[in-house]
Amino acid sequence: MNEALQVMPPKLVVALDVPDPVRAAALVERLAPLGVLFKVGYEAFYGYGDAIREALAAHGAEYALDLKLHDIPRTVHAAVRSVVKPGVRLLTVHALGGAQMLDAAVDAANERAAELGIKAPDVYAVTILTSIGSEDLGELGLIGGPGENATRLAALARDARCAGVVCSVREVADLRSFFGSEFGTFCPGIRPAGTAHGDQKRAATPREAREAGAGFAVVGRPIVDDADPVSAARAILSELEG
Ligand code: C5P
Repeated sequence: MNEALQVMPPKLVVALDVPDPVRAAALVERLAPLGVLFKVGYEAFYGYGDAIREALAAHGAEYALDLKLHDIPRTVHAAVRSVVKPGVRLLTVHALGGAQMLDAAVDAANERAAELGIKAPDVYAVTILTSIGSEDLGELGLIGGPGENATRLAALARDARCAGVVCSVREVADLRSFFGSEFGTFCPGIRPAGTAHGDQKRAATPREAREAGAGFAVVGRPIVDDADPVSAARAILSELEG
């Protein structure tokens, strides 16, 4: 492992995947002091988007907006413009939306942030979902394994000026060697050893995330469904930090 990896452990991202805003706000209150980045996904955004934004703002907490946008370029451009707000540090789109769509997303993020006088959020492109295994790719018509597909889609994302990709920890080492350590990796499917994987097929432990040099380690259920989310987050943080 090189020195840079030891200096910069992956940033822990907590996915606020809970059905009600009171529980989500309580998680923000308890976990914000740990310095984690929060992730607002479908459940929170569609269910109680305004309430979760308020709870995050009340704690000065930045967040990743994981909407995995995937539509025609004009629609994605308009969607990105409407979701860029103070506090959004990163937002996700699907690389499979194609080069023009990715380009439109990056343009919209930059334009809207300039209008608001805020730093533009980084646009990250989802490569292959961590719930998709090798066995699923063929039926989607995608040739090759998850690694090859992730690399191909990451090249598309980088050329469209995305700041990084959403991928599994298993692909991080290859992506870093192809695209350099400045190109970000946002990695869901993180599971402490011995915990349930649920629907995540390409899972990895926090330690593996650190050793691979992942930029962000995204954890939902192992923290938010734990009876003691603070202790669960602390245990994962210490494994991430080695
Ligand atoms: O509960 P768990 O730790 O599996 O949560 C992972 C989170 O990361 C979920 O919010 C899921 O939507 C998100 N995600 C993912 N795989 C991707 C992109 C995002 O699991 N490729």
